[in-house]
Amino acid sequence: MMKALEEKILKEGEILPGHVLKVGGFLNQQMDSDFIMEIGEEIARLYKDCGVTKVLTIESSGIALAVAAGIALHVPSVFAKKHKSANMSKDVYTAEVYSYTHKETYEIAVAKEYIRKGEKVLLVDDFLANGNALRGLMKILDKAEATLVGCAVAIEKGFQGAGDELRASGIRVESLALIDSLTDEGIVFRA
Ligand code: G4P
Repeated sequence: MMKALEEKILKEGEILPGHVLKVGGFLNQQMDSDFIMEIGEEIARLYKDCGVTKVLTIESSGIALAVAAGIALHVPSVFAKKHKSANMSKDVYTAEVYSYTHKETYEIAVAKEYIRKGEKVLLVDDFLANGNALRGLMKILDKAEATLVGCAVAIEKGFQGAGDELRASGIRVESLALIDSLTDEGIVFRA
């Protein structure tokens, strides 16, 4: 848990219909540079003894946090592309991701040269909602025969259950803010 993130969410976050939290002012569209770096340092503190060799996320809003974590851990960060680009051709690992929010399936792709066999990978994202983005990245790690060290997300929507499912399956999931309820009445964080 990162108290400063909970406070920032309460102060600057906006609750939108459909249990959506808008954090465009500091985490998504506009990024609070110092704060993003603080998040990166907190992620690095949690995983500093795990031998992480690479940080992996999905474009676009995961990138800033993955870079911040990568800087703090002194390892490269990589992002999965959401659409295969021509120059990525067949030398890519791909996985399908169903977006509950957008009600569509999209493909993610990472060039094989950036995730090597045996690599120890930390997955980072801004939100953990239904967990499909993280599961897609895990499929890519499987294909690459890389090791999943764990996941670090800024904001987990605990009421959607995916974080606890992943934990129950033995995966380390660290959330810096874990929201158990997001309604017009306000936000309740897990103690
Ligand atoms: P999942 O990956 O955990 O299964 O999540 P889901 O399909 O439900 O969410 C899809 C997108 O919506 C993701 O971004 C996710 O980060 C974002 N998201 C989910 N809940 C919230 C929320 O309460 N607030 C905000 N701001 N975003 C939320 P994406 O569509 O992949 O887009 P991008 O922004 O990373 O490019």
